[in-house]
Amino acid sequence: MSSIDTILAQALAQVDSVTDLNELELVKANYLGKNGSITELLKTLGKCSAEERKSLGAHINQGKDIFVGALNAKKEALNLAKLELQLASEALDVTLPGRGSSHLGLHPVTLTLARFVELFHSVGFTVGDGPEIEQDFYNFQALNIPENHPARAMQDTFYVENGDVLRTHTSPIQVRYMLDHEPPIKLIAPGRVYRVDSDATHSPMFHQMEGLWIEEGVSFADLKATLTDFIRRFFERDDLQVRFRPSFFPFTEPSAEVDILGEKGWLEVGGCGMVHPNVLKNVNIDSERYTGFAFGMGIDRFAMLRYGVNDLRLFFDNDLNFLKQFQ
Ligand code: FA5
Ligand code: MG
Repeated sequence: MSSIDTILAQALAQVDSVTDLNELELVKANYLGKNGSITELLKTLGKCSAEERKSLGAHINQGKDIFVGALNAKKEALNLAKLELQLASEALDVTLPGRGSSHLGLHPVTLTLARFVELFHSVGFTVGDGPEIEQDFYNFQALNIPENHPARAMQDTFYVENGDVLRTHTSPIQVRYMLDHEPPIKLIAPGRVYRVDSDATHSPMFHQMEGLWIEEGVSFADLKATLTDFIRRFFERDDLQVRFRPSFFPFTEPSAEVDILGEKGWLEVGGCGMVHPNVLKNVNIDSERYTGFAFGMGIDRFAMLRYGVNDLRLFFDNDLNFLKQFQ
């Protein structure tokens, strides 16, 4: 008689101390399994007299029922606790304030490029395009830069497979366009260009905008007027100082570099010149009849000046705190 009471007390204590469902199964097996304590106890009934078996059996079964009841109650409690834990961990606090939505703007270089296109569009230039992986012919040869010509060293070139290059300037677009179109030509062509170059004012990837105007009677005076007017409109300053510094490009003659007077002195923003007769010859345009000018502007340099950014590399770091300022 005392045996079942002792076992039950022990069993209930164990049920009580259990903290998860696996443990509970083990406790159940300890008492009700094939060799469990209560199962063993029931087996002893066989040796009892009929009289004893009846009262003892009833008593053991009563204890067993209490144990099973306790097991079930514990199981339910554990399941409930588990569910509550899950609900708590997956809960959404709908009363939390929102994170807010931030509106980022266009990249400053994109904004600058769009402004270039808009201003040139307003004076009759059309927009052209070309590939960033370019053939040597368009990037160099047709532009009067033959192989082994020292002028190739002016631009440190990234070479790709089979002699192709990452275009070092937007000037190859001129060549492609002139091969496809008859004068009069008024073209602008913005795009990415690549050079082995890196410091505060030089980036290995940067943006240029090519310009080309071929027509009868176009002169260097037109070139100066067009660029000066563009630059002053771009910066919205009629008194902005623009300087044409004599220079050399194999594809123009005469050639000049264009500087703008900024807060830190003169900054070169582009190159330009009258299209070299050899280049016109290469694209089958009659250089006796037509003349024209070309220019290549550093878009990123314009962006630096317009937004007062003193290190070009900031444009390409993609730091949101920097970019957020240009909404
Ligand atoms: C040229 O690339 C010529 N193709 C420009 C040209 C076109 C001349 C048509 C005549 C006729 P240059 O290497 O100077 O020239 O580059 C032009 C402009 O690109 C520079 O004035 C500068 O503003 C910008 N630039 C050049 N290298 C870099 C660089 N690494 N990072 C950022 N901007 C650059
Ligand atoms: Mg230059």
